[in-house]
Amino acid sequence: MKILSIFGTRPEAIKMAPVVRELAKRKGIESRVCVTAQHREMLDQVLSLFEIEPDVDLNLMRPNQSLAQITASVFTHLDPVLEKMQPDWVLVQGDTTTVMSAALNAYYRRIKVGHVEAGLRTHNKWEPFPEEVNRRVAGVAADLHFAPTRWSKQNLLKEGVNKEIVHVTGNPVIDALQFVAEEKVPEKISSLLSKLEAKRLVLVTAHRRENHGLPLEKICIALKEIAARGDVEIVYPVHLNPNVQEPVYRLLANAPNITLLEPLEYLPLVHLMKNADLILTDSGGIQEEAPAFGVPVLVLRDVTERPEGVQAGTLKLVGTDKEKIIREANYLLNDRIAHAAMAQAVNPFGDGDAAIKIVNILQNF
Ligand code: UD1
Ligand code: UDP
Repeated sequence: MKILSIFGTRPEAIKMAPVVRELAKRKGIESRVCVTAQHREMLDQVLSLFEIEPDVDLNLMRPNQSLAQITASVFTHLDPVLEKMQPDWVLVQGDTTTVMSAALNAYYRRIKVGHVEAGLRTHNKWEPFPEEVNRRVAGVAADLHFAPTRWSKQNLLKEGVNKEIVHVTGNPVIDALQFVAEEKVPEKISSLLSKLEAKRLVLVTAHRRENHGLPLEKICIALKEIAARGDVEIVYPVHLNPNVQEPVYRLLANAPNITLLEPLEYLPLVHLMKNADLILTDSGGIQEEAPAFGVPVLVLRDVTERPEGVQAGTLKLVGTDKEKIIREANYLLNDRIAHAAMAQAVNPFGDGDAAIKIVNILQNF
């Protein structure tokens, strides 16, 4: 059985890495990897950590690429690879442009598609944009759906997907976390943590397209005010998208108690997350990882496709209203009982065996 795993961005690489490593161990499977490199530097950080050498690297990233541009270049450059390689299965993960285009391109070539992290929905096509539509398209093309939770399985069943092809596997992000969480704290992070002294660490990431422009500016102004309380250090590894870099550096570069960093490698980021008192993020992956460490998360979005963490009490939606972000962050920083109530280590996203389950299902199909 020839299986081609296709991915392009940082989060896809993190979540596909355990699957790719598991595929490589199995007899009877010829595993191949194609990266679109929709991301370049942020993808390469993950490939080197998980020691994955792609068989094909399409090297597609261009500065400030548009959605149409990246979509068109995935189709143009991936199609000849599929034609030549003729895999039995294409595996994709999540909801990026790479996922949507690769799933559809595989369907056009009548190649079976396995969708990892299937069935996440907000039921609002503009939030997150364009991921809600991307994952629905991937779902329509899929022959096997690997849903992380029962809730995501239900979303697919309600859309009429045959239950025989939907499997609840957990999310391989937990497998990836377990891969790195026991590793030694990197020097870069231990020295950053030691410089904090008595200050509490607030970790921030934000990059969503629907937050570009005014919402991201409001988030930055809120961060500046939270940092002004003086007893916290806000650490913000800034996504490389120029629509994120420009406002964040313009508004926060010299703000006291705020450290802006280049995107961190996964291992240091995980250790920073483990040591954080509070996380503010619009990231999907971090909403799955932080509950595993019992770190409260204020989600800088109005809706989430990951209600499991909200139900578990670790995530709270705060949107992008400046006053609300400041109020909710200060509440958790001041009220240790409220903080403790959110700081429950729960893990709704699996036991770290998602990759094994996914590969077993593929082999038994
Ligand atoms: C993409 C995904 C989003 C995902 C996010 C994870 C789409 C439409 N968006 O958003 O779903 O949550 O990745 O981070 O698929 N850049 C670099 N170096 C990098 C990565 C990005 O310079 O390693 C810059 C480039 O200028 C690039 C721009 O960021 O053109 C945007 O990258 P793109 O992948 O289109 O969008 P993201 O905002 O990263
Ligand atoms: N991440 C990382 N370095 C960083 C910021 C995030 O390794 O500087 C990891 C994070 O732990 C998570 C993934 O990247 O596993 C999430 O990626 P991102 O927020 O870019 O995308 P999303 O999950 O929102 O699609």
